[in-house]
Amino acid sequence: MRHACPFPRGSLRARHLPSVPHMSEIKTIGVLTSGGDCAGLNAVIRAVTYHAIQFYGWKVLGILDGTAGLIDRPVRYRELTIPTFDSGLLRESGTFLGTTSRGNPLRHEMPDGTFRDLSPEFAEGVRQLGLDALIVIGGDGSMRIVSKLCEAANIAMVGVPKTIDNDVQGTQWSVGFATALTVVTEALDRLQPTAASHHRVMMLEVMGRDTGHIALNGGIAGGADIILVPELPYTVAGVARRIRDLLSQGRTHALVVVAEGVKTEDGEKASAPDANGHCRYGGVGHYLMDKLAPHTGAEIRVTILGHVQRGGTPSPRDRLLASAFGVHAVELVAQGRVSRMVAWRENGVIDVPLSEVTIGPRALDLNDPLIRTARGLGIHLGEQRAKNRD
Ligand code: F6P
Repeated sequence: MRHACPFPRGSLRARHLPSVPHMSEIKTIGVLTSGGDCAGLNAVIRAVTYHAIQFYGWKVLGILDGTAGLIDRPVRYRELTIPTFDSGLLRESGTFLGTTSRGNPLRHEMPDGTFRDLSPEFAEGVRQLGLDALIVIGGDGSMRIVSKLCEAANIAMVGVPKTIDNDVQGTQWSVGFATALTVVTEALDRLQPTAASHHRVMMLEVMGRDTGHIALNGGIAGGADIILVPELPYTVAGVARRIRDLLSQGRTHALVVVAEGVKTEDGEKASAPDANGHCRYGGVGHYLMDKLAPHTGAEIRVTILGHVQRGGTPSPRDRLLASAFGVHAVELVAQGRVSRMVAWRENGVIDVPLSEVTIGPRALDLNDPLIRTARGLGIHLGEQRAKNRD
């Protein structure tokens, strides 16, 4: 669940710890998806259901449309069984349970403009369904909000990280990121021949909110010449120079990848609020095209990849991650190791306390070996602005 920016990010302060059910007391668990969708969510729900039913004989209830399913009356859910997944949900992106990335149940806007905390409704929904634990598949915003709702409802929670942005703290990989990288790489594979044929500069704007994980990884994989990410400064003059250099060295074209969270040279966000005041990213590609065109003499075209990055057949890596995460999440519930999120480090699944996850998004580490790789390949990643530039 993401929010209109600027949403204050705070660490989770435990008011009280949720009661931890003993394994022999667990009969029913809930699972929900929250925040923006991505590929691999259905694979996580499947893994949770398979493991909980086959190994523990628990009942698994899929909550519809994120936390809304527990807050609305009547509560909205469906029981999940092994045959639920016979139709091949493993192979489908999106979430068959539905999700929501708008609103904050802790501060729900009422029709008269006042705000209400819907924690009591959430707690009552949990009670009505008889849930002993809740597995929440979400990004960093969802982990923060739903963990507070679960605390107030006194229900044990385990988190599973998902987001194409790959910006959840505590994990190197989130479900959905790998498939998004496939989409970005394929887009560059398609843009390169047309760029070469027309001797153009192709600018590909990718998602990622305030982080550059998608741009850096997808840009390297897709053979970009220039990659701009929010974490590294750039100048229009520097990017223009790099394009001119490439063209003077005999290259007929260039590929530029820019993350949607990259600001203008003056430090302004290219994003603008939509009609409902929600922060929407996007637009920096066109800003750069207008700025670069006079300095390069090149014909520039912009492609905004957008929500295409959230769809498509989940990649094998996302299915593996989803499967490993789902099984481990159920194990954490069974062991009473709750208020934790499953995570991927190096070569395996681990788990981390939710309090380490809810501190805000994970930016690109400036020591990320892939930054060295990109520079080693001659990819332009921007440069510091001169101090007294006018
Ligand atoms: O967080 C995932 C993400 O796809 C971002 O990369 C993007 O900025 C945002 O969600 C788009 O949100 P919405 O679906 O609300 O337009």
